Amino acid sequence: MINANELKEIFTELPEKEYLKTIPSNYRKKLGQFFTPSFIADLMTAWIVNNESGIEILDPALGLGIFIRSIIKNQPDKIEVFKFTGYEIDKNLAKLSKKLLSNIQGANIQILNKDYLIADWNRKFDGIVCNPPYLKFHDYKSKNSLLNMFKAKLGIKLSGFTNLYTLFILKSLWQLRKGGRAAYIVPSEFLNSNYGKSVKNYIKESGTLRFVIVIDFNLGIFEDAITTSSILLFAKDQNNKEVEFINIKDLKELELIRNYILSYPLTRKKGKVVKIKELDEAQKWRIYYQELNGNKYKHLIPFSKYAKVSRGIATGANNYFMFSESKRIKYGIKMKFLLPCLAKAPYAKKHFFTNNDFKRLKEEDKPVYLLNATDLSDENLRKYIELGEKQEIHKRYLTSHRTPWYSLENRPPAPILVKVFNRTGLKFIRNEAGVYNLTSFHCVYLKPNLLPKVDLLMAYLITDVAQEIFEDYRREYGKGLRKFEPNDLNNAYVVDLEKIDLKHEEEILKLFYEIRDKEIRGEDIAKEKNKLNEIFLEIFNK
Ligand SMILES: C[S@@+](CC[C@H](N)C(=O)[O-])C[C@H]1O[C@@H](n2cnc3c(N)ncnc32)[C@H](O)[C@@H]1O
Repeated sequence: MINANELKEIFTELPEKEYLKTIPSNYRKKLGQFFTPSFIADLMTAWIVNNESGIEILDPALGLGIFIRSIIKNQPDKIEVFKFTGYEIDKNLAKLSKKLLSNIQGANIQILNKDYLIADWNRKFDGIVCNPPYLKFHDYKSKNSLLNMFKAKLGIKLSGFTNLYTLFILKSLWQLRKGGRAAYIVPSEFLNSNYGKSVKNYIKESGTLRFVIVIDFNLGIFEDAITTSSILLFAKDQNNKEVEFINIKDLKELELIRNYILSYPLTRKKGKVVKIKELDEAQKWRIYYQELNGNKYKHLIPFSKYAKVSRGIATGANNYFMFSESKRIKYGIKMKFLLPCLAKAPYAKKHFFTNNDFKRLKEEDKPVYLLNATDLSDENLRKYIELGEKQEIHKRYLTSHRTPWYSLENRPPAPILVKVFNRTGLKFIRNEAGVYNLTSFHCVYLKPNLLPKVDLLMAYLITDVAQEIFEDYRREYGKGLRKFEPNDLNNAYVVDLEKIDLKHEEEILKLFYEIRDKEIRGEDIAKEKNKLNEIFLEIFNK
């Protein structure tokens, strides 16, 4: 038997502290054993037990059962009402927690030494509270069979790059009873990662996410683990229209938030409220909780007022449709059936694509012409089209949906192009050579009244401040690869050109032409770009 003082200690973090002292950290890391501080556990359990109907409570990754201890500590009079279940894969830890929790008299606690991700899919719970292991999925032993199981049960295809904790969330949502509630604490990176996309989609479709509390303390919550964590609070109830994102910067705010979430569904809109159906799983969800860069600046207007951004030409078979000079000669294709075209991102490295750049690519025998087969009475052209049919180019997805299959999409040369994928930020290119472009670039078509101002707009587009504001609308495709879909840009904001007075306009254009000439000569343009940036900052702050 343990004495009354020791029993009190069960309700502190002491058991975890003792465990950390005895078990080596490399062993703990392998199983993702980081323990939840009790002030966080108290917040999370308050959410799930606030649900009157719930009696069956689950912790899928038990550790030493901090969540169960937190519930009993805060609701001692309900000790006999709740039925607790905890899964713990680590035999030693499962044994330790069994021993520890058996000291709490009258509590109904079942501890299962099993892998939660595979076990007992058909059991349902009223309350689920979890700090899952943050482990890379590729270290998991029977990865493929697990992925297949998730696909069969949930109909969702997950990437092998996923992190194990996302699978915990998915299974828990599946196991949540109608009217039930769940609370998860996960690293905030999940909200902003690429592998999180299908999981975010599942969460969105489930309609159960109610709060995302982003804890951005300077101190990490978990010793030597992560710096920012997010608490996700779910409810399988009827209030399924909105989700609220709340940023928490210190402990005091966390205490206030406790009362706030307990008043759910009454008080809403302390943080940022977003319609669930408008959540975009392809976006980083930090757009919902971080201050937008654009909010810092005045005089912004939608980019769509000045321009329409469209995807470049998709041929469906670039190797077939693109011609280098030698290929052109080989097949005897006349120039009138070829359009000058920018095919690949590395072909335009600067902010200006000039006639000389095009000439250079041509001399290097790069594919610079796009086939525009308009008259098959030309014998060589007809033969080349027949060759395409022999190679079954006409049966490809895009070509088979066109009539005739070799016709081109109508995308005339745009005065400005943007590189679609970019590791260092968005890159706008002034298309001085007037070439067509394939899908490595988007076309920026200006509204007719803006054409005389194309250089002024272009001068803005190459500045750091423009980049910063566009960032609000970017998507991340993993490994730092950024992508902007045409509509991300159409929705973005740019400087209001009307707000630029004549003096500034002259200054900007002078600098812009200096930048042009210097960059074309291969000289460094950093100084001039900085100056340009400063002028626009001045305009924004006017
Ligand atoms: C991040 S710790 C959290 C422990 C405790 N709930 C807390 O919050 O302090 C995750 C726990 O899950 C256990 N675990 C790891 N993989 C598991 C799995 N597949 N099934 C069940 N438990 C697992 C680890 O051993 C570890 O104790």
